[in-house]
Amino acid sequence: MANNILKGKRGIIFGALNNQSIAWKVAEMAHEEGAEFVLTNAPIAMRMGEIKVLAEKTNSEIIPADATSEEDLDNLIEKSMEILGGKIDFILHSIGMSPNVRKGKHYTDINYKFYNQTLDVSAGSLHKVLATAMKKDAINDWGSVVALTYIAAQRIFPDYGDMADAKSLLESITRSFGYHYGIKKKVRVNTISQSPTVTTAGQGIKGFTEFINFSEQMSPLGNASAEACAAYCISMFSDYTKYVTMQNLFHDGGFSNTGVTQEVIEKFGDE
Ligand SMILES: NC(=O)c1ccc[n+]([C@@H]2O[C@H](COP(=O)([O-])OP(=O)(O)OC[C@H]3O[C@@H](n4cnc5c(N)ncnc54)[C@H](O)[C@@H]3O)[C@@H](O)[C@H]2O)c1
Repeated sequence: MANNILKGKRGIIFGALNNQSIAWKVAEMAHEEGAEFVLTNAPIAMRMGEIKVLAEKTNSEIIPADATSEEDLDNLIEKSMEILGGKIDFILHSIGMSPNVRKGKHYTDINYKFYNQTLDVSAGSLHKVLATAMKKDAINDWGSVVALTYIAAQRIFPDYGDMADAKSLLESITRSFGYHYGIKKKVRVNTISQSPTVTTAGQGIKGFTEFINFSEQMSPLGNASAEACAAYCISMFSDYTKYVTMQNLFHDGGFSNTGVTQEVIEKFGDE
């Protein structure tokens, strides 16, 4: 299926933890489409070592970086340009983590130290990546930055906890930075709002199996897979979407515009 639509493009891909990660699928597909890129993840995630398999497969190098550390990001962007031999054309921000959700803290009774971590890791990190890249003038004109989000930014999904606040902030940073980077360098910044997907981060949500089934039945096309999400990311990195910026793009099989489906309403009939 590959058409070399990313040929000659250089990128940085955050967040490939294992072969379930959405970022992993993006890296595989970006490689097939002719891109060259650097893989990065938090130093702690490197210990699992699985990312090395992906690096070999995609002929790419790995640079560890905690996405909340300006120093690490500075080093990452500098080294990526050295390794790839020029400025960057695309960045995937595929990062999310909430210590409150992990530890089962209810939204109304969160630990505020954890809350700051949730916001910093899952949203503030996008601001830091963009600010570092802008200061270094590291992204080519018409470059494309995509961050992954979830519809809990717009609607309440109780078990998503404080990640909902982080995703709202992430989408706001996308609009604000997208404006400034667009004016300055014609760099595009968007979020893709993905269906629930079976990954390490996804499975951290309480009642995830029921939730994924509910979402499946509420989506006319069914839940979008990680592979389909990767294909959408690739199109957003390509030159076929040059005038799309500052958007939250739903990639959810129609879930976001569905009030109810026949399949779901039938569950509420008299029995
Ligand atoms: N899985 C879903 O249901 C779903 C749905 C919509 C959106 N998303 C979003 O997609 C993105 C990717 O998640 P995923 O589902 O592929 O799960 P994943 O667990 O494979 O990926 C999350 C990544 O974030 C990384 N990370 C955490 N803290 C970090 C830090 N300080 N610095 C750098 N990296 C850090 C992890 O190491 C991991 O690689 C996240 O933003 C997630 O919220 C996921």
